Amino acid sequence: MDARDVSTFLLPAEPRVEPASEADWAAIEALTRTAGLPSAGLAEQFPRAYAVARGAGGVLGVAGLQAFGAFGLLRSVVVRAGHRGAGLGRALVSDRLAAASRAGLEGVYLLTSGAAPWFRNLGFVPALRAAAPRELAESPEFSEACPLSADCLFLPLAASR
Ligand SMILES: CC(C)(COP(=O)(O)OP(=O)(O)OC[C@H]1O[C@@H](n2cnc3c(N)ncnc32)[C@H](O)[C@@H]1OP(=O)(O)O)[C@@H](O)C(=O)NCCC(=O)NCCS
Repeated sequence: MDARDVSTFLLPAEPRVEPASEADWAAIEALTRTAGLPSAGLAEQFPRAYAVARGAGGVLGVAGLQAFGAFGLLRSVVVRAGHRGAGLGRALVSDRLAAASRAGLEGVYLLTSGAAPWFRNLGFVPALRAAAPRELAESPEFSEACPLSADCLFLPLAASR
């Protein structure tokens, strides 16, 4: 049995959401690129800002929560085609929101070009991009990558400390 056979054997049969590791970089980069999401700033706060859904096929999904001052930026939420519609996206977002609460963040922003209704179902509300806190607005995803036409959404978090 070679090393790849061993790692396949160790992958969970049921997908589970867990912290990303350095070894997940290539899979995360490929997932976001295939989904047409921006790569600017993707490596910032990697791997600690990221969670992956890991299953028998390897990395099936990813979500990132980068912190900028008192606020979080939810980004790079992708589930591999063929594994969508099974709740993995929701589980990844919920994991990142729990991380934001644990970190004591006041709220979470995101930009999206196609999934605003999906995020609204998860509790996010439309926000003015121009009203985002300066530190977050200067992040690569906000300032360079996402088109101005992208929807900006916000979820306030209850103070947890
Ligand atoms: C958006 C995405 C992450 C959802 O992942 P998922 O694992 O399919 O999500 P869930 O299984 O938790 O939820 C699926 C539900 O959301 C709905 N949904 C999926 N994408 C949607 C979208 N763009 N707009 C509105 N609803 C959407 C599905 O129809 C499904 O509805 P149902 O439960 O009534 O059948 C996935 O479709 C994806 O990777 N899209 C491409 C990347 C992207 O646009 N990311 C968001 C910007 S960062």
